[in-house]
Amino acid sequence: MRSVVVSGNAPVLAAAIAREVGVGAHVAHVERFPDGESRVAVPNQVVGARVALVQTLAPPVNDHVVELLLLMDACRRAGATDLIAVIPYVGYARQDRRTGGGAVGVRVVADAIASRGPSRIVAVDPHIASFEAVCDVPVDTVTAAGALASAIRAGDGVSVVVSPDLGAVKLAERYALELGLPTAVVRKRRISGHEVEAQELVGDVRGLRPVIVDDMLSTGGTVEAAARLLIERGARPEIVVAATHGLFVGPAVDRLRGLALAHVMVTDTVPAPPTSTGLPLTVVSVATVIADALARHL
Ligand code: R5P
Repeated sequence: MRSVVVSGNAPVLAAAIAREVGVGAHVAHVERFPDGESRVAVPNQVVGARVALVQTLAPPVNDHVVELLLLMDACRRAGATDLIAVIPYVGYARQDRRTGGGAVGVRVVADAIASRGPSRIVAVDPHIASFEAVCDVPVDTVTAAGALASAIRAGDGVSVVVSPDLGAVKLAERYALELGLPTAVVRKRRISGHEVEAQELVGDVRGLRPVIVDDMLSTGGTVEAAARLLIERGARPEIVVAATHGLFVGPAVDRLRGLALAHVMVTDTVPAPPTSTGLPLTVVSVATVIADALARHL
């Protein structure tokens, strides 16, 4: 059976994935109307094909969620014989529990995705490790940690891996194993959507050069708080940051520039900020890890 990769909002990543898998890549048409509605049209090549649809849930998250649903619906109605939703960055994954009269956002989004009939989902480092448990379809979870660790090994001379909160400890352990380095952990308290406080450091960083690792970098508050605490505790100031999803929203770029970081590494799961920001930024591709997961099904 013929297989194709179709891109929604990530044409460059989708083309790289298609090249690695050895199938054709096509771009869907997406337009936004003045009233805020989106309209999509998928290419003819989806008819009778096994389709891997690549759509990331980067900001504007709500638009991209709706467009993912529309694209899946369009593929099914056009006659795709199988549909795999490739979601490099899973938005809403931080809303995984009910607090103060709230909703479980990740469940709502996962149910909406499953309702449009994908046979499986491929996701990169979703914020909750248990993402598959909230999805009604199988999820292949892949990680960018190996690719980012290789990029770090290539020349940053780091000597300790730091988890900037308790949630990233497992990820930090994975990097530590790849790099053969010790770990340290920051205990963080979130004050609001864009403010955090680093309360405590577990581990010794004196005289060491840290790499702070996380699944995502959003407003930069987590990295900023962790970096300041590390320096206060005697770490070397040429800090490296590695995060799978570089959202860089709100004050992120200014915050990171203010830290004079040695290197910031993210992946292409979301579009990178322009080079004019002046950050020492490297973007590592996740095309290969996604292609490896897809190759089993296409
Ligand atoms: C939270 O638990 C995540 O792993 C990240 O640490 C967090 O979402 C990063 O957000 P920000 O950059 O806004 O601090």
